[in-house]
Amino acid sequence: MLLIVWTVANQKGGVGKTTTTISIAGILAEQGHRVLLVDTDPHASLSYYFGIESEDLDLSVYELFSQVSSREQILQTLCPTKYPNIDILPATMGLATLDRSMGAKGGMGLVLKKAMQKVADCYDYILIDCPPVLGVLMVNALAAADRIIIPVQTEFLALKGLDRMIKTMELMQGEQTEKFQYTIVPTMFDKRTKASILAFKKLQEIYTNKIWPGVVPVDTNLRNASSAQQVPSDFAPISRGTLAYKSLLSFLKKQQAK
Ligand SMILES: Nc1ncnc2c1ncn2[C@@H]1O[C@H](COP(=O)(O)OP(=O)(O)OP(=O)(O)O)[C@@H](O)[C@H]1O
Ligand SMILES: [Mg+2]
Repeated sequence: MLLIVWTVANQKGGVGKTTTTISIAGILAEQGHRVLLVDTDPHASLSYYFGIESEDLDLSVYELFSQVSSREQILQTLCPTKYPNIDILPATMGLATLDRSMGAKGGMGLVLKKAMQKVADCYDYILIDCPPVLGVLMVNALAAADRIIIPVQTEFLALKGLDRMIKTMELMQGEQTEKFQYTIVPTMFDKRTKASILAFKKLQEIYTNKIWPGVVPVDTNLRNASSAQQVPSDFAPISRGTLAYKSLLSFLKKQQAK
């Protein structure tokens, strides 16, 4: 099968980007797909999730930007995880300086896409987790994607952030004929609160064709899975969170096949 690249992005922090990335990766791996996770967040949450101490690493996503990397060099940068089907391209704190050192240089927008093409034959899916900041890393992650997954918290303040995120994508794609494909994913839905229900209705109203019709509920298993350093589908296979992400994944796969 051909490689599929999904980027999980939202400029707003704490909306469930890393949780969505890891949950989908876990399920894909369980289904037998080979998955590469790419951590572009200088906070390295995704790398820490797998117990990778990013400050001990010699190589990370950073090197992709500071030097032209061959396929062999990229393969050396990849770290295995305890899940045989999941590898990770880790982040380091140094990534935070990329915008200062390289933001002004031209032609930096496709670095990640080109690097991923070099290892395309090793994976079925690449999932890229973004930092909540618009900068060179997010621009690269968006440009590398076949589809952008935008988690959004079901609360009113988050709607504003979503609007900004979509404007950013529109700005980036400019006059390009190939428009970004994206799917909005309502997260942290609490059916007991009116605010959650109202925000969900509003989202559906505004983004009718761009939104996954389901919701990811609030589920402490998702948080506890990260403390246990296990993917949610392994930590709590029949939890509400895992079931929601399974349903999201089948929706995304159908969309991708269209
Ligand atoms: N559906 C959920 N139910 C309960 N807790 C959740 C859920 N989704 C995420 N969380 C928790 O909320 C916190 C923020 O989630 P996460 O780290 O995935 O967000 P993020 O968008 O990646 O944040 P950042 O912008 O800082 O990278 C984490 O502690 C995570 O475990
Ligand atoms: Mg994150």
